Amino acid sequence: MNPLMFRPALWLGLSTCFAMSSFAATNLPAWNLLQSSRPVVIAHRGYSAVAPENTLPAFERALAAGADLIELDYHHSRDGQLIVIHDSTLDRTTDATNRWGGQNLRVADRTLAELRSLQAGIGFQPSYPQARLSTLSEAMAVIQRGSVTLIERKGGDAAACVELLRKEGLVNRVVVQSFDWDYLRDYRRLDTEQVLGALGPPGSRSGKKLTDAEKALTPAWLDEIKSLGAQVAVWNRQVDAASIQAAHERGLKVWVYTINEAPVADALLAAGVDGIITDNPALIWRALAVRRHSE
Ligand code: G3P
Ligand code: CA
Repeated sequence: MNPLMFRPALWLGLSTCFAMSSFAATNLPAWNLLQSSRPVVIAHRGYSAVAPENTLPAFERALAAGADLIELDYHHSRDGQLIVIHDSTLDRTTDATNRWGGQNLRVADRTLAELRSLQAGIGFQPSYPQARLSTLSEAMAVIQRGSVTLIERKGGDAAACVELLRKEGLVNRVVVQSFDWDYLRDYRRLDTEQVLGALGPPGSRSGKKLTDAEKALTPAWLDEIKSLGAQVAVWNRQVDAASIQAAHERGLKVWVYTINEAPVADALLAAGVDGIITDNPALIWRALAVRRHSE
């Protein structure tokens, strides 16, 4: 039989294959969250209202609460590991100062082995003596069982995070965000696919502190976020219906942090936000449910 006769079938097969691979690229959890028909609920540093922030118990509790995304922060250790912790120092949330003495003990000065030896729920009541610092890999292994990790980079270069997500097969199974827009630019240069969130407002610009008015989510900020190649503007509560509409017109989503009061959540939902970051996911689920039943 003339092999040319198989050409249409071959083309059909190839085009189906290309269509499926493009479908596979956009049908990943991070992209699906951007298509959500309702605002998404994001647990801030885990369910940090009920368990110590940025620890595995807080991530387990957020999973149990059905958070769509679970946010965490990371820094690099001295030996280049990505460590889940908010502050650049260990003093506030660990027993490092008691154990080692001194103050302002930097995460970046300690190895993973040293950091693992610390207790990580210091100051949280009730106490969680079993809570430890974890690596980003360990945290994602827990969170990705039933949610999506919202990774906030606090310290370290983009290349390390890009490499880790590729190695673990987690590109677009998580979302990456940062206040450092140079980091986001680097990230986008290294990875053209990963869904990125631009955190704002920036505290300053060209060395000049911004006023409150300058920190509101304006079209100018949105245009800059768009030019970074980010898909989400992750802003404080200085957003309104007009700025959210302007974001949507540019194909951007708006997620707002850190909302722990029901009336504020109600107002933001009425304004049209696409996601709320909270220490208390149950409070936001309730706000969504009440809103839905009163429509
Ligand atoms: O996810 C947004 C929020 O986490 C930003 O503030 O200081 O809690 O990292 P911060
Ligand atoms: Ca954070």
